[in-house]
Amino acid sequence: MINIPKWVKDLQPYKPGKPISELVDAKNLKRIVKLASNENPLGPSPKAIEAIKKFASESHRYVDPASTELVKAIARKYDKKSGQIICGHGVDNLLTYYLMAFTREHDEVLTSGGTFIGLYVNTNKIGRQLTTVPLRDYSIDLNAIYSNISPRTKIIYLANPNNPTGTIFSRGQFEEFMIKVPKDIIVLLDEAYSEYVPPGTDLPNGTDYDYENLIVSRSFSKCHGLAGLRVGFAIGPENLIKELYKVKLTFEPNHCAQVAAAAALEDNEFIARTIELNKKSLALMIAKFDQLGIDRIESYANFILMLMPSEEIAADFCDQCLKRGLILRHVRPFGIANGVRINSGTEDETIFAIDVITEVYRKLLDSQTAHAGNFEDNG
Ligand SMILES: Cc1ncc(COP(=O)(O)O)c(C=O)c1O
Repeated sequence: MINIPKWVKDLQPYKPGKPISELVDAKNLKRIVKLASNENPLGPSPKAIEAIKKFASESHRYVDPASTELVKAIARKYDKKSGQIICGHGVDNLLTYYLMAFTREHDEVLTSGGTFIGLYVNTNKIGRQLTTVPLRDYSIDLNAIYSNISPRTKIIYLANPNNPTGTIFSRGQFEEFMIKVPKDIIVLLDEAYSEYVPPGTDLPNGTDYDYENLIVSRSFSKCHGLAGLRVGFAIGPENLIKELYKVKLTFEPNHCAQVAAAAALEDNEFIARTIELNKKSLALMIAKFDQLGIDRIESYANFILMLMPSEEIAADFCDQCLKRGLILRHVRPFGIANGVRINSGTEDETIFAIDVITEVYRKLLDSQTAHAGNFEDNG
């Protein structure tokens, strides 16, 4: 019999949501609005689409494994050397490479509870020890993470802004943390949402630092609108980036992803439009949630985490919204059992989402009040 490693046997298979087209048929709905994956509601950057069309005819060629043109564009934008940059099939895939290149069996990856699920999945996938410390007021607690460093800790993962809470830590907190952390531990700073953070916010910009043990990840899936193409990059010290190239899938990212990302990187008009829409959409949602009394976390990203009174109510809330055509994310697998995440939408999607949420939340409140009434009657 084949002896499958325990850590693989213990993995939970990824449960994808039904494709939108299937949901329309299955639930007999006129419309589905998906605000569950923090995607860009405007679609891809138009410059990226142009680039794909222009270079699609080169798709019979194997790709440039070093993503030379894309790496040069990133190096120019962030004032780095090309040797400090690596591109991959999204930040998610880069996480696998960090683990492959920098950890051995029995090594530990240290992070926060209530953070990006991709880190948990990737760590478990290759059988490394995952240690999490609780969030503090829904924010990553750098002091607690520092206190939990053990001799086996090889990687510390920090998402800033954090997903699914949207919270941040400050420049001062980060610098104090980096000074204390032993230099033989790699700190992964995931900045997938940094473009959404309002200017003037006290937020460390990972690309400004040159710590010998810091690797910063950025994604093209969010404000550049290229989630489906799978492309992200890392910036770090040359000696570490060099090792990542050895474990990377050779022909990655694919051809269309490379040309599209290079074009999207320079599409400032699209990025500005995305940020503006995000601000407006979230402001409308916040106003409504506050009016309804929905508890929520202050967010610096392109989504809001709503807190329901219980895990069951969060699950029911998502189900009821789905029945009306609105797809939200119940973030129980991230470690926040009563959390429901919604990302920004177009104006039209935002109004639709607000209407659905208002109806569902009021019904939930009514049924709770009725329950409470029953208890009183019985009491
Ligand atoms: C913090 C964080 N990092 C990385 C990712 C994934 O990025 P990519 O699509 O580049 O793999 C996400 C996606 O939701 C995220 O929330």
